[in-house]
Amino acid sequence: MAINSIGNPHVPLLEVNDLHVSFKIMAGKVEAVNGVSFSLDRGKILGIVGESGSGKSVTSYSIMQIIDKNGTIEKGSIKLDGTELIGASEKVLRSIRGNRIAMIFQDPMTALNPVYTIGNQLIEAIRTHDDKISKEDASKRSIEMLKLVGFNEPEKRMKQYPFEFSGGMLQRAVIAMALVCSPDLLIADEPTTALDVTIQAQILELLKEIQQKMGMAIIIITHDLGVVATVCDEVDVMYAGRIVERGTADHIFYESAHEYTKGLINSVPTLADDRPLVPVKGNPVDLMCLPKGCPFAPRCDHCMKICLEQFPPQIKFSEDHYVSCWNAIKTLQDQGQIDVTLPPEAPLNPSEVKSLTRVDLPVVKKKPVKKAIKAPVKKQTVKGKKKGGK
Ligand SMILES: Nc1ncnc2c1ncn2[C@@H]1O[C@H](COP(=O)(O)OP(=O)(O)OP(=O)(O)O)[C@@H](O)[C@H]1O
Ligand code: SF4
Ligand SMILES: [Mg+2]
Repeated sequence: MAINSIGNPHVPLLEVNDLHVSFKIMAGKVEAVNGVSFSLDRGKILGIVGESGSGKSVTSYSIMQIIDKNGTIEKGSIKLDGTELIGASEKVLRSIRGNRIAMIFQDPMTALNPVYTIGNQLIEAIRTHDDKISKEDASKRSIEMLKLVGFNEPEKRMKQYPFEFSGGMLQRAVIAMALVCSPDLLIADEPTTALDVTIQAQILELLKEIQQKMGMAIIIITHDLGVVATVCDEVDVMYAGRIVERGTADHIFYESAHEYTKGLINSVPTLADDRPLVPVKGNPVDLMCLPKGCPFAPRCDHCMKICLEQFPPQIKFSEDHYVSCWNAIKTLQDQGQIDVTLPPEAPLNPSEVKSLTRVDLPVVKKKPVKKAIKAPVKKQTVKGKKKGGK
């Protein structure tokens, strides 16, 4: 199976379709990813957000085919430039990992060996993927990469060991290592979580700059909505192993349609007003026993009877904005738009949507928490259009 490294501009760089991944543990089966579908074009930055355990990392490890041994990709399809990766031979996967898809992790030390110099590790990474390149050329390329990620004295850095680098410098070195083979897709799993705020901003700026220079696509996995607002073209919000909302950063921040996304936005500190922070109440759902309806139902203020019975189908809420939420469907129905928007596989017809009624669930009461210390944080600007959080 040959992989077309030039790429076909008519197919998305990455297409993930109906991906299901589970893990076997002593107590049973953890259904970590439950029907994730998305596509990503060349040169775009996709953000994947969601609370801990929502399946962000497992989705990205599935793309790289590096899930833990007790995990199984139960079904679905992952195509890179139209070529199926699920079921591909180890030889094909080895040629893709690092060369066409590279990954950076939250903790840079997972990718670095403390007993080798940064230079040695960069040269080794280049020569692993290109056995024809000479050591001298690999060294030159490593120096170029260190320059690209913002090191002032790259020749000196080449001779240093990881322990001589600060956290931000280590993350830059790891980014350089991921970029040495000019991948088409870079997956960054929580690339800034371990860093302080100033360094976080620098690393994000760097990723954006590199993306513009090298034209690759990037998937950024994060808990941090600020990251999403700063750099992402598109955003997927994950909950319980599914993408529950997808749109531009503007859609997610200013027109969020899923009740979980609204909760996420309300729990972000902002200096724009004095409203208290409202955490998303309740606990994440047990992935070993998923409900048949919406998994967010026990935590949702707008839960309706239908939410407990049927998982909401994905609907187009507005241009480039998709959501799986019965309340969003009801909103469209109230606006008289449901006929055109409800997909054919939706289990309700418009007259049934009218019968949606709210149910009160025995949920923990909202506890507004005191606002965080008023630090002079810069207001978020999404694509230079609007200012301030919601
Ligand atoms: N090897 C494994 N065995 C059992 N369960 C696993 C395994 N790996 C992941 N899981 C489970 O799969 C679910 C999704 O995990 P994942 O790491 O993708 O979450 P995440 O969204 O990346 O969370 P975080 O933000 O904390 O990194 C979690 O419930 C996790 O416990
Ligand atoms: S589908 Fe129902 S329970 Fe789920 S988020 Fe929407 S309104 Fe809430
Ligand atoms: Mg993770």
